[in-house]
Amino acid sequence: MNDSRSRVGNVLVVVVLLAMASWWLFAEEGLRWPDVAGSRWTLFVVVVVLYAALCLVAIARTRRMTRPATVVDDGTILVAFATQTGFAEELATRTAAALRAAGHRIDLRPLAQVDAATLMATRVAFFVVATYGEGEPPDTSRRFAREVLGAVASLGDLRFGMLALGDRGYEHFCGFARTFEAWLTKQGADPLFARIDVDKSASAALAAWDAGLLPWTGDAAVQTLPSFVWWTVSERRRANPGSIGEPAFHVTLVPPQGEAPSWEAGDIAIVQLPDGQRREYSIASLPTDGRIDLLVRQAHRSDGGIGFGARWLTSTLAIGASTGLRIRANQGFRLAGIAPSTPLILIGNGTGIAGLRAHLKARVAAGATRHWLFFGERHAAVDNVYGDELDAWQRAGFLERISYAFSRDTPRRVHVQDRVLEQRDAVAEWLAFGAVVLVCGNAAGMADGVDAALKAIVGDAALEDMAVDGRYRRDVY
Ligand SMILES: Cc1cc2nc3c(=O)[nH]c(=O)nc-3n(C[C@H](O)[C@H](O)[C@H](O)COP(=O)(O)OP(=O)(O)OC[C@H]3O[C@@H](n4cnc5c(N)ncnc54)[C@H](O)[C@@H]3O)c2cc1C
Ligand SMILES: Cc1cc2nc3c(=O)[nH]c(=O)nc-3n(C[C@H](O)[C@H](O)[C@H](O)COP(=O)(O)O)c2cc1C
Repeated sequence: MNDSRSRVGNVLVVVVLLAMASWWLFAEEGLRWPDVAGSRWTLFVVVVVLYAALCLVAIARTRRMTRPATVVDDGTILVAFATQTGFAEELATRTAAALRAAGHRIDLRPLAQVDAATLMATRVAFFVVATYGEGEPPDTSRRFAREVLGAVASLGDLRFGMLALGDRGYEHFCGFARTFEAWLTKQGADPLFARIDVDKSASAALAAWDAGLLPWTGDAAVQTLPSFVWWTVSERRRANPGSIGEPAFHVTLVPPQGEAPSWEAGDIAIVQLPDGQRREYSIASLPTDGRIDLLVRQAHRSDGGIGFGARWLTSTLAIGASTGLRIRANQGFRLAGIAPSTPLILIGNGTGIAGLRAHLKARVAAGATRHWLFFGERHAAVDNVYGDELDAWQRAGFLERISYAFSRDTPRRVHVQDRVLEQRDAVAEWLAFGAVVLVCGNAAGMADGVDAALKAIVGDAALEDMAVDGRYRRDVY
């Protein structure tokens, strides 16, 4: 589209120049060199030279856009991932490992660190791409989607495989991967095999990915993910007794004796249900606690029954019984590389306090104090599930500010995004001071509302940059 527009523009300029020239040469006196003053000749020469320079700049830019400066075909395979909650990164890392084991040189990186020039210089690429919202990219790939997919590139030399992660429960199943693939093929890239769509974590699709990669990997399998380990329920209590909302349970699990699994604040526990289905939960504790704490809501299904995952963890499993569980590193919600002196704005509602609690625990252990928590629920008296702990941290100076939004305690329902907007000047000040924003909890309603509030404060582009720079991290569901 950009191409055809610029072509039309150039044709118009040439037509206008020709029309001006013929008017100048043929008007009134007929065909002869115009008898004009020297100053007008100088002006004419300056204009022509400027226009020629403009054309050269435009040509140079076009060449940069459509042809990489250097095409180094050293056989390196690009493996790029777009992830929100870590699954795409986990699979991309395994894909890269399987390819490396077969002797290939691999360039593994987030899609956010891929640009048109990288794609143009690449011969073979494997993409592992998740979808969010309404067919949208994960947060960190928003800028890639806007800038790279919004332009043209010459990708006639690129061949690629695409593993699309999604959930058929959403209207735009694998929507972002589809958009990305359509763009790649429009730019001339060729798929090595048909796009593989993964519904949740369907193993048949992952086996198909293994099969697609076989010419490159030999027999190394990608889909053999870390196995589940038997964790035992050691404690469970209703976290919100008396709440008008659905019951939430604080569930504690301990690893098999002699094992000391490691993880970081921000990571996710994947719980295996008896029929093999999996559910994800934000971990609310640290390895130094020696246990995994989860905060599980007894969400109801549309048929009125309690959801399978919630029932398994909050009721079926007796204290002392075990469940298959594995931990997934969620790099996008970890705080790797963030100094304890960096201020943190933590925003969440409901069970979202789980992921924020793990971060607060880690930061308190590191002696950090610059924390501002926004937490939303219904009633302060029964829904502030970790309220005592938060109070203690605040008294000890570890929580500089808490802004609660207990929506049913106020005459008008107030939610965390409203609190963020009420405090917009102070929030802007914290952000100007380099604060990192962590959001955990409901995607629809809370996280969307907070996203809109932050955009209203810093602007769309700045928030997009914050996501790419790791200053806006979300664990939302
Ligand atoms: C990153 C992340 C963190 C989360 N953290 C928490 C938390 O801290 N606390 C909390 O209470 N909830 C959390 N959830 C939600 C949780 O994973 C469950 O969705 C929730 O407990 C409801 O599941 P259910 O089985 O009880 O309900 P169900 O109604 O049985 O299932 C709910 C949803 O699970 C998905 N699902 C259905 N079938 C399958 C399947 N075969 N395989 C995989 N998924 C399927 C579908 O999206 C379905 O709508 C989190 C979700 C994500 C993605
Ligand atoms: C809040 C939320 C929104 C989602 N939206 C979509 C969607 O619109 N289309 C889709 O196919 N999958 C959607 N999914 C499913 C994810 O793409 C899928 O779980 C994927 O495996 C996540 O990969 P990741 O861990 O790499 O982010 C959504 C998941 C969540 C938690």
